[in-house]
Order: sequence, then C-alpha cells, then structure tokens
Amino acid sequence: MGTPEDHLSWAHPVVREWFTTRFGTPTEPQIAGWPHILARRNTLISAPTGSGKTLAAFLACLNSLVRQSLTGSLRERTQVLYISPLKALGNDVQKNLDQPLLEIQRLAAERGYLMPAIRTMVRTGDTPVRDRARMLKLPPHILVTTPESLYILLTAARSREILRHVETVIVDEIHALAGNKRGAHLALSLERLDAITHLRPNRIGLSATQRPLSLVAEFLSGQPNAPNAPDLRFSPSPDAPDLSSPASAPDALDFRCHPERVIKLLDHIVVIGDNSQYFGCVGTVQADSRFLCIS
Ligand SMILES: Nc1ncnc2c1ncn2[C@@H]1O[C@H](COP(=O)(O)OP(=O)(O)O)[C@@H](O)[C@H]1O
Ligand SMILES: [Mg+2]
Repeated sequence: MGTPEDHLSWAHPVVREWFTTRFGTPTEPQIAGWPHILARRNTLISAPTGSGKTLAAFLACLNSLVRQSLTGSLRERTQVLYISPLKALGNDVQKNLDQPLLEIQRLAAERGYLMPAIRTMVRTGDTPVRDRARMLKLPPHILVTTPESLYILLTAARSREILRHVETVIVDEIHALAGNKRGAHLALSLERLDAITHLRPNRIGLSATQRPLSLVAEFLSGQPNAPNAPDLRFSPSPDAPDLSSPASAPDALDFRCHPERVIKLLDHIVVIGDNSQYFGCVGTVQADSRFLCIS
C-alpha cells in the first residue's frame, strides 16, 4: 500500500507537506496516475467524479513549477495548458489550482523558501481585453481555457506565440468532448498545438467513468484507429503488481496483449473502478505495447 509520503516521494517537501496536511492520503486515481504523468507519458485517467483527478494532474504540474521556481529556472513562459469544457470552469480551477497554489506558496514562505511567483490565468470568451493584452506581455505558467478559446488563441499570431513552449496539455472532462462536434474541434486544435510547439506536449486526459473508454483514449491520442482500439475491460491478471508500489513503474510491466490492437500515440491509460463496473488498467500502448491490468 505505502504511506502518503511514499506516494508523494516525488514531490518537493513543501508540496508534500501541503498535500498531507490538507488531505492526508492520496486517492486511488492520484496514486495510480502520478507515476505515469511524472514519467511524461500521455496518460488517461478515468475515475468517478470527485475522486481527485483534476488535482492529480494539477499537483504534478505545480510540483514541477515549484521546483523550477525554487531553483531559479522558472521562465516566464506558458508550460501547462489546461482545457475544460465546463461552463463553470472557474470553480474547479479555484478549488484545484488557485487555492492549492496559494497555500503552497504560503507554506513555502513559512518554511523560509524564496519562491518567485507561479502565475495562472483563465482565458475564456469573458476575459476582459485588458487581461488578454497582459497575458501576451507576461504569459502565465499555467493557462486555463476552453476548447473554443484555445481555437482563437491558436489562430491569432500573437497568442499563438505564447503557446509554443507548452509542455503539458490537460484535457479535463474529456468524456464530455469525445465523440461530439465540440470535441472534434478540440482534436483539431490539439493537432495544431502539436504543430507549433517546440516539443510535442504531453497529453493528460481526465474522464469520468465512461464506456467505451477506448473512444476517449482514441480522442486523447488523436489516433483515428477506432476499430483497433483495445477493449479495456480486460480480465484481472493474478500477476498484476501493486500500482502503488514504485516497482509498478512501466519497466516492471511485462504483460503483452494484442500489440496489434493498440492506440499508437497513447502511452498510458489509467482506469479506476467505481464499484465492480471497472477495474484499474495501465497500459503502454506505444513501442512494445505492454499492458498491466489490475482487478
Ligand atoms: N487525496 C484527496 N483526499 C481528499 N480530498 C481530495 C483529495 N484530492 C482532491 N480532493 C478534493 O476532492 C474534491 C474533488 O477533487 P477533484 O480533483 O475535483 O475530483 P475529480 O476531478 O475527480 O472530479 C476537491 O475538493 C479536491 O480538493
Ligand atoms: Mg475534475
């Protein structure tokens, strides 16, 4: 199982202290998802609403920014792009990004760290002109937006510039986008983003439990391989390692299943069950196509 500290051994001591003081124990999607996010694999986390998915993605990004800030290597660039289709996206961002960041910054100061500010910004259709202009002058480290605003940001030359350094894209509530027009529009924007960025950004998808999950995975990966997408409802494997242990890192996995039935660009899939409907599944679906299934 491991203690909360074990699961957060990757985190800066301030981030770890903040998390354990605030929440105690990480949730299952957090424990299972972090190793893959931190290894910079494309990762899809599917778990019930309220299970800590959004914070799982943000905390990994915040930790990286905190470390950069503390070592003086944090550049004034947008590194993380968070996309959510939610109308009330501000609430989620306040709860899972702004509040944690504020508390982490306060704790860092209390512990005597000098931590230059990490900046976030929400850019939607409602963003005042003044703030839009400020964003172009001083890009936030984490930019929060909607699929529609992302499209506009990618289209205008000046805002496109600030997206060139994005390293991680989080697509939240991805189940609400896969398979509809809004999602098709976003898929196009994600490809455009890939085309303008210096390095192809890592994609993190966060989904409520949804069937077929392969559709969501396909959407995240950008691979139109629907017929070849794996059915993720594998039967449990008795050999499946404990996902919470460090030994469950991808190199420790040696299950090979249906290499021909993989989604080529999606590296990892993490599914956490609600009741008995789903089970955890982590799969490498690139290169050697190894899968891990847990009950
Ligand atoms: N490990 C945890 N323990 C307790 N509460 C948590 C934990 N992680 C996140 N939360 C809180 O639970 C609520 C739901 O988390 P959230 O990340 O929004 O879930 P999801 O994205 O899966 O719907 C939020 O208020 C969040 O701050
Ligand atoms: Mg969420």
